Amino acid sequence: MLDKFKRKITYIRISVTDRCNLRCIYCMPEEGIKLISHNEILTYDEIYEICQVGAELGINKVRLTGGEPLVRKGIELLVEKIASIPQITDLNMTTNGIFLEHYAQILKDAGLMRVNVSLDTLDPDEYKRITRGGDIYKVFKGIEAAVKVGLTPVKLNAVVMDKNDKKTKLSLIEYAKNIGVEIRFISQMHLDKGDFQVVEGGDGGNCKICNRLRLTANGFIKPCLFSDDEYSVRELGIREAILKAVEFKPKSGTTCTHRNFYNIGG
Ligand code: 5AD
Ligand code: SF4
Repeated sequence: MLDKFKRKITYIRISVTDRCNLRCIYCMPEEGIKLISHNEILTYDEIYEICQVGAELGINKVRLTGGEPLVRKGIELLVEKIASIPQITDLNMTTNGIFLEHYAQILKDAGLMRVNVSLDTLDPDEYKRITRGGDIYKVFKGIEAAVKVGLTPVKLNAVVMDKNDKKTKLSLIEYAKNIGVEIRFISQMHLDKGDFQVVEGGDGGNCKICNRLRLTANGFIKPCLFSDDEYSVRELGIREAILKAVEFKPKSGTTCTHRNFYNIGG
C-alpha cells in the first residue's frame, strides 16, 4: 500500500489492551483513567482477521503494545495466530517487562520474534517513583529471560524526562552493554501539544519515512499517532478501515487530543 506521499505502509502497531499494571507518570494519570469497556475491546479472532487482511494488503511487520500487552489473558494465543500468517516476517512486542520472566519462553514458543522493554532508570527507588510502584528487579529478571530464550535482539526503550541527567543515561548504556542488549532514548512526548521528535535508532517520529498504522484496543485504525483521525474496523469493515487510514494518512503529525499513550500504544 502506497499513501498519497508515496510512503509504503508495511507496519501495524496493535494495542491489545488499554490496561496496565503500572502507572508511569508520563503516560497515565494516577487516577480517573477512562478505560475501554470489555465488550468494546477487540477479540483475538478480530485482531487476527485484521492482521490477515492487513497482510494481504502489504503489512509485513506487527508490534503488539498496550497499555501492557502481558496483562491481557492468553496473549500467547494471539501471538500464535499472528505468527501463522506467512507474510508477517517481523512479529514483536513492547512490554514493561514486569511479567516477562514468566512469559518469555511461552512467547518464544508461540512465535514471537523479539521484545522491546521499557526501562527509564536503573535505580529501584527512582523506578518506583516513575512507574508509581513498579519493582525494577522483576524487569531485570524479565530482560534476562528474554535474552536467554532468544527473543532477540532485545531492545530497551528509555524515556528521557530530564535531558540534563547524563548519569542515568550513562548507567543505562553500561547496563545494556553488559547484558548484550540494545538501548535507545526517547524524548518525552506530548500528544496534545504535537510535541514529538525522531526516535534515534528507529523510524518513529520521522514523518517522511513513516510506514506505520496503529490499531486501538477498541478497533480503530489510526493513520498517525499525532492525529485525531481514526477509522473503525467494526463500522467500516476491516479492508475499508485500513484503506481509508492509508488514503488519509497525513503528511506529518499535528496533535492528538482525545487519546493517550496507554490507549494507542506509544
Ligand atoms: N513520551 C514518550 N514515550 C512514551 N511512552 C509512553 N508515554 C510516553 C511519552 N509521553 C513509551 C513508553 C514505552 C512505549 C510503549 O511508549 O515508555 O516504551
Ligand atoms: Fe504502563 Fe507502559 Fe504506560 Fe508505563 S508507559 S504506564 S508501563 S503503558
